Amino acid sequence: MNSIIRQLEEKREQARAGGGAQRIAAQHAKGKLTARERLELLLDPASFEEWDMFVEHRCSDFGMDAQKVPGDGVVTGYGTINGRMVFVYSQDFTVFGGALSEAHAEKICKVMDHALKVGAPVIGLNDSGGARIQEGVASLGGYADVFQKNVLASGVVPQISMIMGPSAGGAVYSPAMTDFIFMVKDTSYMFVTGPEVVRTVTHEEVSAEELGGAVSHSTRSGVADLAFENDVEALLMLRRFFNYLPLNNRESPPTRATQDPAERLDPSLDTLVPANANQPYDIKELIVKVVDDADFFELQPEYAKNIVIGFARMEGQTVGIVANQPLVLAGCLDIKSSIKAARFVRFCDAFNIPVITFVDVPGFMPGTAQEYGGIIKHGAKLLYAYAECTVPKITVITRKAYGGAYDVMASKHLRGDVNFAWPSAEIAVMGPKGAVEIIFRKDIGDAEKIAERTEEYRQKFANPFIAGHRGFIDDVIMPNETRKRICRSLAMLKNKKLENPWRKHGNIPL
Ligand code: HXC
Repeated sequence: MNSIIRQLEEKREQARAGGGAQRIAAQHAKGKLTARERLELLLDPASFEEWDMFVEHRCSDFGMDAQKVPGDGVVTGYGTINGRMVFVYSQDFTVFGGALSEAHAEKICKVMDHALKVGAPVIGLNDSGGARIQEGVASLGGYADVFQKNVLASGVVPQISMIMGPSAGGAVYSPAMTDFIFMVKDTSYMFVTGPEVVRTVTHEEVSAEELGGAVSHSTRSGVADLAFENDVEALLMLRRFFNYLPLNNRESPPTRATQDPAERLDPSLDTLVPANANQPYDIKELIVKVVDDADFFELQPEYAKNIVIGFARMEGQTVGIVANQPLVLAGCLDIKSSIKAARFVRFCDAFNIPVITFVDVPGFMPGTAQEYGGIIKHGAKLLYAYAECTVPKITVITRKAYGGAYDVMASKHLRGDVNFAWPSAEIAVMGPKGAVEIIFRKDIGDAEKIAERTEEYRQKFANPFIAGHRGFIDDVIMPNETRKRICRSLAMLKNKKLENPWRKHGNIPL
């Protein structure tokens, strides 16, 4: 008995030591924490229940039978974040560079299976050299097993990936299938093929950081939702982020008590929209003035900035915010912004999070780059996402809602539950100038006539009443009362029930 307990202690000690003091020092020297230190920061104190500390790889090639570390390069288990259950895995770069063996994959799959069984999110802290090279195809099989679980868990429990080191090759596809990807600047990178392969195949010279660092993925590719300065900031922000999410698709998101009154008015909003329709303003000012305690957790703030997405709370309840940003490309919808918002709307819909949409959109972005890039298909993603979405949908048109983009942005026709317009709203097929130049093309040489017609069109259509006549908007509200009216609408919609017809799955334009 005593010898078993002694062995147990030894094994635990070995597992905790990971790849040894030298490799841990190297990890620290890079500004990275170890797998265990990361879990300590992420989870509530003393809440972590570790599993599979004694799992070892089964490879005997290349002298691997003499190199075994209990735990095999990944720390797994469950714990709590602010008292709420979460399953975790944290890859240990000090053990074979965090490379994924068959046994390592089995550990990840085990926590994912349990997360599904009990309905709790999965957070992966990724820091891995990819497939364990010594294991060959067994490792590839392990990856595919993880991918399969990612897909089965999608839409059932939230899945979050924090990239805190390398993530290369096919290994990137597990994070890619999770709901959110966060990265740490300077120490993490993700790419399908690394700089050397890129140099050989395309003759491009690019560093790992440029190719797949946190900045590249949060500004250029849109793969990452946020980029953090270091491990500590990343993990603390992840705790904050977790508080917005429900544990699974059958639960409501958690509520957080607030002192911010639901009926609070904000008179400064009455002057937010400039009198000149071509002058931009910052839609984020509206968002922070409307939500609880001015607390808005923005996602992808540096990517496709013409649309703003993120989580906030109204009367303590999590809501998803989608808003056109007039400051960037006049708030036009283009390929990137459509995809960005569509995926977010689908997350909210899958996890019972009401969607609030602020609309100021002059239309879809014109041009060959957009058309050849497939704006038809990509714009359709956002249309599809809003149309299939059954959670409460509240829409506020602040200014322009033109053309197809009017329909797309959670319009009444796409089952918007409550659709408001500010007095400054202009809901029409297109802006006055463009409209007149088409329907009065023969008068184009006559500036006076065109000006007259434009004014006539403006009077007739550049207002909220035409849509109001038809019930396409439910009310014209004063900007200052936006929070109050949204809170009341959300309360009214609390027990909303709406189901789409049965089907195996829809066929969203991919
Ligand atoms: C086994 C690995 C490993 C791997 C790293 N190590 N990657 N062991 N399998 N894939 C080990 C190293 O041998 C080393 O062991 C330790 O981890 C740290 O690695 P270093 O190279 O010293 O660290 P660093 O200089 O920081 O470089 C990290 C790295 C590099 C960029 C990740 O190690 C690297 O390029 N590794 C190979 C990456 C790769 O090609 N992976 C396969 C991708 S394909 P010691 O004992 O010296 O500490 C793939 C397919 C997945 O993953 C397909 C899914 C469908």
